[in-house]
Amino acid sequence: MPNPKDQLIVALDGTPDEVGAWADALCGVVTWVKVGMTLHYVLGARIIDDLHAHGYKVFLDLKLHDIPHQVEGAAFALAALGVEMMTVHACGGLDMMAAALRGANRGAEQAGKPAPKILAVTVLTSMDAAALRQIGVADDPQTQVERLVRLSAQACVGGIVCSPLEAPLARSILGAGATIVTPGVRPAGSATGDQSRIATPARALELGATHLVVGRPITQSANPAAAAQAILQELATQEQVSCQEGD
Ligand code: C5P
Repeated sequence: MPNPKDQLIVALDGTPDEVGAWADALCGVVTWVKVGMTLHYVLGARIIDDLHAHGYKVFLDLKLHDIPHQVEGAAFALAALGVEMMTVHACGGLDMMAAALRGANRGAEQAGKPAPKILAVTVLTSMDAAALRQIGVADDPQTQVERLVRLSAQACVGGIVCSPLEAPLARSILGAGATIVTPGVRPAGSATGDQSRIATPARALELGATHLVVGRPITQSANPAAAAQAILQELATQEQVSCQEGD
């Protein structure tokens, strides 16, 4: 049975001071943290080293999206930081995703670090059908996610990011062992904020996510460690239910 601690990723989207406090509070409670552009653009490599020194695994979520040459260079530089996972936008296309893999593999090798898992972001969990139409995508989120999951599989990336609602679809395409990371996770009763395609932690797991990204429901709570522990407990209970159903 998977350990919920390996499944929960806390998004540290805040100022350096806030993140310092969260990193201290969550130390030993969770294994994974996610660094996004809010933090990385301010602190760069320093925050990655810091979080590794705290004992965290780091998911660097910069969602690279540019011409292949630029993305290859960025992935080369970022992989040298020794991060465990990083992201590119699947809608950057096949060549761009291949360039990211090449860059990351070369960067990690040159730095003597393990290569990070490259995840392809499909459709942002903040976007609904109307938001997709605004950018010229007439298909609904499910159809667009399906298209991008297939493209990501062709590019041989290490996994994908989608909302929990599309996890079963992604699983059916990618197979049993695939890494499926889902943001858009909200414990019952917590604020939705700008997220649109959401599910509870237990439901996300049940739908087939391997990793759940949760930010504000943990970081904006009065007690982030207690909020994370409550989610871990919810995941452990769901694991037991799934196990019993599988018996
Ligand atoms: O605070 P919240 O739980 O909404 O944070 C979700 C995190 O997941 C954010 O850091 C956001 O950048 C990231 N993310 C997302 N949707 C995606 C990919 C990443 O919300 N499709």
